[in-house]
Amino acid sequence: MSGVLAFALFLFEILAIATISISFCSGSSYHGDCLESERGALLRFKRDLKDPSNRLASWSGSGDYCAWTGVVCDNMTGHVLHLDLRNPFNYYKESEYDAIGRTALVGKINPSLLDLKHLSYLDLSFNDFQGVQIPRFVGSMGNLQYLNLSGTRISGMIPHQLGNLSNLQFLGLSSNYLLYVDNLLWLSGLSSLEHLDLRSVNLSKAFNWLMVTNELPSLVELRLSNCQLHHFSPLATANFSSLTVLDLSHNQFDNSFIPSWVFGLSHLLFLDLGFNHFQGPIPGGLQNLTSLKHLGLDSNYFNSSIPNWLYRFIHLEYLSLRNNKLQGTIDSEALGNLTSISRLDLSLNTRLEGRIPRSMASLCNLKSINLRGVHLSQEISEILNIFSGCVSIELESLDLRSSSISGHLTEQLGQFKNLDNLDLANNSIVGHIPVIGVGGNKLTLEVRHDWIPPFQLVALGLHNCYVGSRFPQWLHSQKHLQYLNLLNSGMSDLFPIRFLKSAFQLKFLDLGLNQFHGQITDLTKVTQLFFLSVHSNNMYGPLPLISSNLVYLDLSNNSFSGSVSHYLCYRINKPKSLIGLKLKDNSLQREIPDCWMSYQNLEILELSNNKFTGKLPNSLGSLTSLIWLLLGKNRLSGTIPVSLKNCSALESLDVGENEFVGNIPTWTGERFSRMVVLILRSNNFHGPLPTRLCDLAFLQILDLADNNLSRTIPKCINNITGMVAANSFTRSSQQYLPLPLDGDVILTEKASVVSEGEAIEYDEILNLVKETDVSRNNLTKSIPLEMTNLKATQSLNFSHNSFTGRIPESIGAMRSLESIDFSVNQLSGEIPQSMSNLMSLNHLNLSNNKLTGKIPSSTQLQNFDASSFTGNDLCGAPLPKNCAENVSVSEDENGDEDEDSVDHWLYVSIALGFVVGFGCFIGPLIFNRRWR
Ligand SMILES: *[C@@H]1O[C@H](CO)[C@@H](O)[C@H](O)[C@H]1NC(C)=O
Ligand SMILES: *[C@@H]1O[C@H](CO)[C@@H](O)[C@H](O)[C@H]1NC(C)=O
Ligand SMILES: *[C@@H]1O[C@H](CO)[C@@H](O)[C@H](O)[C@H]1NC(C)=O
Ligand SMILES: *[C@@H]1O[C@H](CO)[C@@H](O)[C@H](O)[C@H]1NC(C)=O
Ligand SMILES: *[C@@H]1O[C@H](CO)[C@@H](O)[C@H](O)[C@H]1NC(C)=O
Ligand SMILES: *[C@@H]1O[C@H](CO)[C@@H](O)[C@H](O)[C@H]1NC(C)=O
Repeated sequence: MSGVLAFALFLFEILAIATISISFCSGSSYHGDCLESERGALLRFKRDLKDPSNRLASWSGSGDYCAWTGVVCDNMTGHVLHLDLRNPFNYYKESEYDAIGRTALVGKINPSLLDLKHLSYLDLSFNDFQGVQIPRFVGSMGNLQYLNLSGTRISGMIPHQLGNLSNLQFLGLSSNYLLYVDNLLWLSGLSSLEHLDLRSVNLSKAFNWLMVTNELPSLVELRLSNCQLHHFSPLATANFSSLTVLDLSHNQFDNSFIPSWVFGLSHLLFLDLGFNHFQGPIPGGLQNLTSLKHLGLDSNYFNSSIPNWLYRFIHLEYLSLRNNKLQGTIDSEALGNLTSISRLDLSLNTRLEGRIPRSMASLCNLKSINLRGVHLSQEISEILNIFSGCVSIELESLDLRSSSISGHLTEQLGQFKNLDNLDLANNSIVGHIPVIGVGGNKLTLEVRHDWIPPFQLVALGLHNCYVGSRFPQWLHSQKHLQYLNLLNSGMSDLFPIRFLKSAFQLKFLDLGLNQFHGQITDLTKVTQLFFLSVHSNNMYGPLPLISSNLVYLDLSNNSFSGSVSHYLCYRINKPKSLIGLKLKDNSLQREIPDCWMSYQNLEILELSNNKFTGKLPNSLGSLTSLIWLLLGKNRLSGTIPVSLKNCSALESLDVGENEFVGNIPTWTGERFSRMVVLILRSNNFHGPLPTRLCDLAFLQILDLADNNLSRTIPKCINNITGMVAANSFTRSSQQYLPLPLDGDVILTEKASVVSEGEAIEYDEILNLVKETDVSRNNLTKSIPLEMTNLKATQSLNFSHNSFTGRIPESIGAMRSLESIDFSVNQLSGEIPQSMSNLMSLNHLNLSNNKLTGKIPSSTQLQNFDASSFTGNDLCGAPLPKNCAENVSVSEDENGDEDEDSVDHWLYVSIALGFVVGFGCFIGPLIFNRRWR
């Protein structure tokens, strides 16, 4: 009783203080001067914004501003408390993707907001502030409890001043792809913070991220997906025991195992660790997290079977184990215990097998099932039968592509009333064509030319299916089509420009690997399309102009010709959405224009194998998100522009087979710290290799062949850890694109390497390739011992240089070596005995050196042809010359001396040589069931 009274008194005091503050400010009048200043502040804020959809129509005149859209006032004092101008549409829902631009407020954030002294809630999410920094003054809005600037295209460094917002409970800065921090210490000031969402903010410099967030006493939600985090620092005790949401997906942690503090977070409802590098079994430590509703472990390297304890997670609504290396079976009837499950994804675990258990028939909440790539060896009719009960009512998506399913498709399919995505591609299903997602089976789509189908499709995948040589006319009747995949479907027709211009919903169109022909001149009006691939067809003429909304364009391997300036420089001041631009293998000519300023989002640029000439433009340096830059096989000249320094996200650079000159820039090692593939072959580069090349810690393919490089390779070469350890390649060059049917398209990189005339596609395998080629240069001195520390190296090509001294004895430690070419050098001494340990070696060329003595005997070395050893003073099999019994000791000493005299350089090379090009960037199209 007295407690209630005390509370009432306390309330009274607060009211009294409030009243006093009003009278202090502007008398008792609600619309006093002081509040007029709030009206003024709102109007000034509005003045700096363009408002195409008139969302702020009510914001005018002298009426009650508390009634304006998005404004909430204290009804006692009239002060503005809330400003909620969240865009009604956002990127989290794909269906809204189009609408965002139409309803965004565009402009800048006027400092007049500072005059709203009582503001506690500010939500400006998914409006467009055009790349400005977060204004520092935001840190002075001390009453803020809620701040949401997600998806507002703000960029630059997050100002430390935000740390002054000690009342803040919600902070949302996600989906601002150019935002970064220099450290996160300022976060400690946010002592009231409960919800922190920094998804897609670059936190790579925040080494202390874990320590800082762990000290936030009230934190319940922590979302750090796609933040370029690399490391978990050790954590003695996890203080964030109240966390209910933890999202650390899409990072690149060096750590191989899930840190154990995660296991103690017993309140977790949402845990996402997908798209990292975790390996080993799915840790049993997770088994206490039985409250989980969402568990994402996808795209890691987990290799156990599906643990039984997982079936006790009866609250799970979302489970994704997709794209791991899981094995064992999915037969367990206990799967039926997951009674809350709505989205189940076990796909892309190619060692997982078994049959869909009957108990799944009782999982009545299932909306989406993805078992793509799991070996089910079941009949399609049995599967449809299991799901034909309550599952068929809710089920929206069923993906059983490449699942070893056989049999006839039955009428049961008709029971699935809500199914809008069915993918049965690459199975052994026979029979009539079902309506959607049939690509890859032995099904032929045969309909009359004037057929008008009785349905409206949202997505249609007929890839690798024979559809006929003509573009299907009935597609013109499909007004809701968003996704159309006709890759490799046997068509040879005119490019369907009329269809494209009238398909108002179409976002994704893949016509690759057909024989479409003709010219495309103008796609600027096709504004809804974000993905267009016409690769490997017979298209010709100039490049088409495109809409600035297009995110991915692949026109490679056609006969497009002419200059690209009209295309690239079109509306130069308008920012472009392009993330991937692939124009390789065409006949494009003239200079690469200096118009890259407006392509800030570009991550993949492939211009190889065209007829480009001239120098590289400076504006390439504005492509700060660039990951792949492929310019090989053109006639480009000049030096590598200094501005390229800014492209520090580069992981693959190929300028091979051009006419570039100059030194290899000294900043290469320092600026391209994430470089995995570096190809400079067949140019006119000269001078020494910069020592800083050793800083390229992730490097796996180094191809410097066929230049005029001189001197030697630094001894620090053993610092290239990418070549020391297998499997160190980061997967960050996977791209995510929004896709209809609430998923993403993941585009994985593929590199193709030519080895002895045979093309090998390295895709996933890129994880393992470690090659060095410095052949055909003017490199001298001997091969340093340090090179033999590069244990994961698979191939070395040092041929056609002036190397002297001995082959290091420890070369036998390089157990991964498959190919060695040291031919045409001045190498002397004997062939080290240890070479006979190289069990994987299948290509060896030591010819035309000054090697002496006996070829060590081992099945390994005798298996090679005599030509591997000719042009030396060697004896023994496989050479015809028999060995006399004297070995010169002085040779040995010479060798050692020579080694001592080596200045700190070493030669490394790729034996396989010829890394020709990188392509087929869009490897498998993978549907990711989550919206990033
Ligand atoms: C203030 O207005 C809100 C919304 O109109 C209302 O829910 C609330 O009860 C009002 N408070 C007072 C103290 O009048
Ligand atoms: C910010 O707003 C978006 C919608 O615009 C919402 O999805 C998100 O949850 C909000 N963030 C926070 C931290 O509340
Ligand atoms: C799981 O819970 C049990 C029982 O409460 C406890 O003994 C065990 O230590 C917990 N395991 C982990 C990894 O926290
Ligand atoms: C599944 O549920 C049944 C019945 O409730 C129970 O007997 C069984 O132990 C459960 N299986 C697992 C693996 O939790
Ligand atoms: C090689 O790596 C070590 C440890 O990472 C480092 O201390 C050293 O400076 C590096 N050397 C060169 C030449 O980069
Ligand atoms: C190779 O380099 C040496 C000096 O290191 C130089 O004298 C020689 O001319 C060079 N040869 C060629 C072909 O460039």
